Amino acid sequence: RKKLTIATLRAMYQRNEPITVVTAHDFPSAHVAEHAGMEIILVGDSLAMVAMGLEDTSEVTVDDMLLHCKSVARGAKSGFIVGDLPMGSYEISPDQALQTAIRMVKEGRVHAVKLEGGAEMAPQIAKLTQAGILVLAHIGLTPQRQNALGGFRVQGKSTSAALKVLEDALAVQDAGAFGMVIEAVPAGIAEAITKKLRVPTIGIGAGNGCSGQVLVQTDMLGNYPPGRFLPKFVKRYADVWGESLRGLEAYRSDVKDRSFPAPEQTYPIPEEHLVEFKR
Ligand code: KIV
Ligand code: NA
Repeated sequence: RKKLTIATLRAMYQRNEPITVVTAHDFPSAHVAEHAGMEIILVGDSLAMVAMGLEDTSEVTVDDMLLHCKSVARGAKSGFIVGDLPMGSYEISPDQALQTAIRMVKEGRVHAVKLEGGAEMAPQIAKLTQAGILVLAHIGLTPQRQNALGGFRVQGKSTSAALKVLEDALAVQDAGAFGMVIEAVPAGIAEAITKKLRVPTIGIGAGNGCSGQVLVQTDMLGNYPPGRFLPKFVKRYADVWGESLRGLEAYRSDVKDRSFPAPEQTYPIPEEHLVEFKR
Protein backbone atom coordinates (compact mmCIF):
# COMPACT_ATOMS: atom_id res chain seq x y z
CA ARG A 1 0.00 0.00 0.00
CA LYS A 2 1.11 3.53 -0.75
CA LYS A 3 2.13 5.57 2.26
CA LEU A 4 -0.84 7.36 3.73
CA THR A 5 -0.38 11.06 4.48
CA ILE A 6 -2.36 14.02 5.74
CA ALA A 7 -3.07 14.84 2.07
CA THR A 8 -4.79 11.45 1.67
CA LEU A 9 -6.88 12.10 4.76
CA ARG A 10 -7.84 15.61 3.60
CA ALA A 11 -8.85 14.25 0.18
CA MET A 12 -11.02 11.60 1.83
CA TYR A 13 -12.69 14.26 3.94
CA GLN A 14 -13.30 16.43 0.85
CA ARG A 15 -15.04 13.61 -0.99
CA ASN A 16 -16.99 12.66 2.13
CA GLU A 17 -15.43 9.20 2.42
CA PRO A 18 -15.53 7.93 6.02
CA ILE A 19 -12.10 7.75 7.67
CA THR A 20 -11.46 4.46 9.46
CA VAL A 21 -9.46 4.55 12.67
CA VAL A 22 -8.57 1.82 15.14
CA THR A 23 -6.17 1.68 18.04
CA ALA A 24 -3.05 -0.46 18.18
CA HIS A 25 -0.55 -0.86 20.99
CA ASP A 26 2.13 -3.23 19.69
CA PHE A 27 3.61 -4.76 16.55
CA PRO A 28 0.94 -7.42 15.85
CA SER A 29 -2.05 -5.17 16.53
CA ALA A 30 -0.55 -2.52 14.23
CA HIS A 31 0.32 -5.04 11.54
CA VAL A 32 -3.20 -6.43 11.31
CA ALA A 33 -4.76 -2.95 11.40
CA GLU A 34 -2.61 -1.89 8.47
CA HIS A 35 -3.45 -5.05 6.51
CA ALA A 36 -7.14 -4.38 7.13
CA GLY A 37 -6.72 -1.01 5.42
CA MET A 38 -7.23 1.30 8.40
CA GLU A 39 -6.43 4.86 7.41
CA ILE A 40 -5.32 5.97 10.86
CA ILE A 41 -3.75 3.81 13.54
CA LEU A 42 -4.11 5.41 16.95
CA VAL A 43 -1.73 4.52 19.74
CA GLY A 44 -4.25 5.54 22.37
CA ASP A 45 -3.44 5.83 26.04
CA SER A 46 -6.21 3.24 26.44
CA LEU A 47 -3.18 0.94 26.21
CA ALA A 48 -3.11 1.54 29.97
CA MET A 49 -6.03 -0.85 30.28
CA VAL A 50 -5.69 -3.06 27.20
CA ALA A 51 -1.93 -3.61 27.20
CA MET A 52 -0.73 -2.74 30.71
CA GLY A 53 -3.64 -3.93 32.83
CA LEU A 54 -4.04 -0.60 34.62
CA GLU A 55 -7.34 0.73 35.99
CA ASP A 56 -7.33 3.93 33.93
CA THR A 57 -5.07 6.09 31.78
CA SER A 58 -3.75 8.37 34.52
CA GLU A 59 -0.58 6.34 35.28
CA VAL A 60 0.66 6.20 31.69
CA THR A 61 3.99 7.98 31.16
CA VAL A 62 5.56 9.46 28.05
CA ASP A 63 8.11 6.62 28.14
CA ASP A 64 5.27 4.06 28.17
CA MET A 65 3.76 5.76 25.14
CA LEU A 66 7.10 5.87 23.32
CA LEU A 67 7.68 2.14 23.78
CA HIS A 68 4.27 1.32 22.35
CA CYS A 69 4.46 3.90 19.56
CA LYS A 70 7.82 2.54 18.35
CA SER A 71 6.43 -1.01 18.20
CA VAL A 72 3.33 0.18 16.33
CA ALA A 73 5.41 2.19 13.86
CA ARG A 74 7.43 -0.95 13.04
CA GLY A 75 4.21 -2.91 12.49
CA ALA A 76 2.48 -0.40 10.21
CA LYS A 77 5.05 1.06 7.83
CA SER A 78 2.50 2.57 5.42
CA GLY A 79 0.03 3.72 8.03
CA PHE A 80 -0.73 7.18 9.38
CA ILE A 81 0.06 6.83 13.06
CA VAL A 82 -1.30 9.11 15.77
CA GLY A 83 -0.01 8.86 19.35
CA ASP A 84 -1.79 10.09 22.47
CA LEU A 85 -0.06 12.60 24.72
CA PRO A 86 -0.54 11.06 28.16
CA MET A 87 -2.01 12.89 31.15
CA GLY A 88 0.46 15.34 32.66
CA SER A 89 2.62 15.67 29.56
CA TYR A 90 0.98 18.70 27.90
CA GLU A 91 -1.46 20.54 30.19
CA ILE A 92 1.09 22.70 32.01
CA SER A 93 2.07 24.87 29.06
CA PRO A 94 2.35 24.99 25.28
CA ASP A 95 6.12 24.54 25.70
CA GLN A 96 5.60 21.36 27.71
CA ALA A 97 3.20 20.08 25.05
CA LEU A 98 5.71 20.84 22.30
CA GLN A 99 8.54 19.10 24.16
CA THR A 100 6.43 15.97 24.58
CA ALA A 101 5.12 16.07 21.03
CA ILE A 102 8.64 16.37 19.62
CA ARG A 103 9.67 13.23 21.52
CA MET A 104 6.61 11.42 20.21
CA VAL A 105 7.58 12.27 16.63
CA LYS A 106 11.34 11.81 16.91
CA GLU A 107 11.45 8.77 19.16
CA GLY A 108 7.94 7.32 18.88
CA ARG A 109 7.87 7.67 15.07
CA VAL A 110 4.26 8.94 15.01
CA HIS A 111 2.93 11.23 12.28
CA ALA A 112 0.63 13.20 14.57
CA VAL A 113 -0.27 13.48 18.23
CA LYS A 114 -3.63 13.55 19.99
CA LEU A 115 -4.39 15.52 23.12
CA GLU A 116 -7.55 15.86 25.17
CA GLY A 117 -9.36 19.13 25.73
CA GLY A 118 -11.25 21.89 23.97
CA ALA A 119 -10.93 25.68 23.99
CA GLU A 120 -8.55 25.61 26.99
CA MET A 121 -6.06 23.55 24.96
CA ALA A 122 -6.08 25.93 21.97
CA PRO A 123 -2.67 27.45 22.93
CA GLN A 124 -1.10 23.97 23.03
CA ILE A 125 -2.65 23.01 19.69
CA ALA A 126 -1.50 26.29 18.10
CA LYS A 127 2.05 25.84 19.42
CA LEU A 128 2.36 22.31 18.04
CA THR A 129 0.78 23.27 14.72
CA GLN A 130 3.19 26.21 14.33
CA ALA A 131 6.07 23.79 14.93
CA GLY A 132 4.79 21.58 12.10
CA ILE A 133 3.37 18.84 14.30
CA LEU A 134 -0.06 17.61 13.30
CA VAL A 135 -2.60 17.58 16.12
CA LEU A 136 -5.75 15.50 16.43
CA ALA A 137 -7.88 17.07 19.16
CA HIS A 138 -10.20 15.07 21.44
CA ILE A 139 -13.40 16.64 22.78
CA GLY A 140 -16.67 15.54 24.36
CA LEU A 141 -15.85 12.81 26.89
CA THR A 142 -12.16 13.15 27.70
CA PRO A 143 -11.18 10.08 29.76
CA GLN A 144 -8.06 11.68 31.27
CA ARG A 145 -10.49 14.01 33.11
CA GLN A 146 -12.78 11.27 34.33
CA ASN A 147 -12.53 12.43 37.95
CA ALA A 148 -13.64 15.95 37.08
CA LEU A 149 -16.36 14.67 34.76
CA GLY A 150 -17.70 12.34 37.46
CA GLY A 151 -16.98 9.20 35.45
CA PHE A 152 -17.58 8.09 31.87
CA ARG A 153 -20.73 9.94 30.96
CA VAL A 154 -22.32 11.18 27.78
CA GLN A 155 -21.37 14.80 27.11
CA GLY A 156 -23.45 17.48 25.39
CA LYS A 157 -26.86 16.16 26.41
CA SER A 158 -28.35 19.53 27.42
CA THR A 159 -28.46 22.53 25.08
CA SER A 160 -25.81 24.38 27.06
CA ALA A 161 -23.58 21.30 27.22
CA ALA A 162 -23.99 20.78 23.47
CA LEU A 163 -23.05 24.42 22.87
CA LYS A 164 -19.91 23.85 24.97
CA VAL A 165 -18.93 20.88 22.74
CA LEU A 166 -19.51 23.04 19.64
CA GLU A 167 -17.44 25.87 21.12
CA ASP A 168 -14.62 23.39 21.83
CA ALA A 169 -14.84 21.97 18.29
CA LEU A 170 -14.54 25.43 16.73
CA ALA A 171 -11.72 26.42 19.10
CA VAL A 172 -9.55 23.37 18.36
CA GLN A 173 -10.21 23.72 14.63
CA ASP A 174 -9.23 27.39 14.68
CA ALA A 175 -6.12 26.58 16.72
CA GLY A 176 -5.00 24.34 13.85
CA ALA A 177 -6.07 20.79 14.72
CA PHE A 178 -6.26 18.70 11.55
CA GLY A 179 -9.27 16.88 12.98
CA MET A 180 -10.82 15.88 16.25
CA VAL A 181 -12.08 12.84 18.08
CA ILE A 182 -15.58 13.41 19.45
CA GLU A 183 -16.33 10.92 22.22
CA ALA A 184 -19.67 10.03 23.81
CA VAL A 185 -21.84 12.80 22.42
CA PRO A 186 -25.42 12.31 21.17
CA ALA A 187 -25.46 11.52 17.43
CA GLY A 188 -27.52 14.54 16.40
CA ILE A 189 -25.16 16.94 18.20
CA ALA A 190 -22.02 15.34 16.74
CA GLU A 191 -23.54 15.40 13.24
CA ALA A 192 -24.54 19.06 13.53
CA ILE A 193 -21.06 19.97 14.80
CA THR A 194 -19.44 17.98 11.96
CA LYS A 195 -21.45 20.03 9.44
CA LYS A 196 -20.22 23.30 10.93
CA LEU A 197 -16.53 22.32 10.65
CA ARG A 198 -13.97 22.31 7.82
CA VAL A 199 -11.88 19.52 9.40
CA PRO A 200 -12.90 15.90 9.99
CA THR A 201 -14.53 14.57 13.14
CA ILE A 202 -13.69 11.03 14.25
CA GLY A 203 -16.54 9.69 16.33
CA ILE A 204 -16.52 7.18 19.15
CA GLY A 205 -19.94 6.88 20.68
CA ALA A 206 -20.97 9.89 18.60
CA GLY A 207 -23.21 8.35 15.91
CA ASN A 208 -22.66 7.83 12.18
CA GLY A 209 -22.80 11.50 11.19
CA CYS A 210 -19.11 12.04 11.95
CA SER A 211 -16.42 12.12 9.24
CA GLY A 212 -14.92 8.87 10.51
CA GLN A 213 -15.04 6.37 13.35
CA VAL A 214 -12.59 5.03 15.91
CA LEU A 215 -12.75 2.01 18.23
CA VAL A 216 -10.32 0.42 20.64
CA GLN A 217 -9.06 -2.67 18.79
CA THR A 218 -9.12 -5.09 21.70
CA ASP A 219 -12.69 -4.06 22.54
CA MET A 220 -14.03 -4.47 19.00
CA LEU A 221 -12.16 -7.74 18.40
CA GLY A 222 -13.37 -9.29 21.64
CA ASN A 223 -10.04 -9.90 23.35
CA TYR A 224 -11.83 -10.31 26.68
CA PRO A 225 -13.97 -13.03 28.24
CA PRO A 226 -17.65 -12.65 27.38
CA GLY A 227 -19.51 -10.78 30.07
CA ARG A 228 -16.87 -8.11 30.62
CA PHE A 229 -18.37 -4.61 30.62
CA LEU A 230 -18.02 -2.73 27.34
CA PRO A 231 -19.35 0.77 26.62
CA LYS A 232 -22.62 0.96 24.67
CA PHE A 233 -20.81 2.26 21.58
CA VAL A 234 -18.59 -0.82 21.13
CA LYS A 235 -19.62 -3.43 18.59
CA ARG A 236 -17.86 -6.78 19.05
CA TYR A 237 -16.75 -7.84 15.56
CA ALA A 238 -14.73 -10.90 16.50
CA ASP A 239 -14.04 -13.32 19.33
CA VAL A 240 -10.28 -13.20 19.77
CA TRP A 241 -10.62 -14.33 23.38
CA GLY A 242 -12.58 -17.41 22.35
CA GLU A 243 -10.18 -18.25 19.54
CA SER A 244 -7.12 -17.81 21.78
CA LEU A 245 -8.69 -19.88 24.55
CA ARG A 246 -9.59 -22.71 22.15
CA GLY A 247 -6.04 -22.79 20.80
CA LEU A 248 -4.36 -22.71 24.19
CA GLU A 249 -6.65 -25.37 25.66
CA ALA A 250 -6.07 -27.64 22.66
CA TYR A 251 -2.31 -27.20 23.02
CA ARG A 252 -2.43 -27.94 26.72
CA SER A 253 -4.44 -31.08 26.17
CA ASP A 254 -2.08 -32.26 23.40
CA VAL A 255 0.93 -31.78 25.68
CA LYS A 256 -0.77 -33.65 28.52
CA ASP A 257 -1.53 -36.70 26.35
CA ARG A 258 1.76 -36.42 24.41
CA SER A 259 0.06 -36.01 21.03
CA PHE A 260 2.10 -32.81 20.63
CA PRO A 261 4.68 -32.65 19.21
CA ALA A 262 3.70 -35.11 16.48
CA PRO A 263 6.24 -36.41 13.88
CA GLU A 264 5.52 -33.31 11.68
CA GLN A 265 6.88 -31.04 14.42
CA THR A 266 9.87 -33.25 15.22
CA TYR A 267 13.39 -33.42 13.70
CA PRO A 268 14.08 -36.93 12.46
CA ILE A 269 17.38 -38.80 12.76
CA PRO A 270 18.38 -41.86 10.69
CA GLU A 271 17.72 -45.01 12.71
CA GLU A 272 21.35 -46.29 12.45
CA HIS A 273 22.68 -43.04 14.02
CA LEU A 274 20.29 -43.38 16.86
CA VAL A 275 21.24 -46.99 17.45
CA GLU A 276 24.92 -46.01 17.45
CA PHE A 277 24.25 -43.09 19.80
CA LYS A 278 22.40 -45.27 22.28
CA ARG A 279 25.16 -47.91 22.40
O1 KIV B 1 -6.96 6.05 24.05
C1 KIV B 1 -7.76 5.77 23.14
O2 KIV B 1 -7.89 4.62 22.70
C2 KIV B 1 -8.56 6.87 22.57
C3 KIV B 1 -9.63 6.54 21.59
C4 KIV B 1 -10.69 5.71 22.18
C5 KIV B 1 -10.16 7.75 20.91
O3 KIV B 1 -8.31 7.99 22.92
NA1 NA C 1 -6.88 8.20 24.66
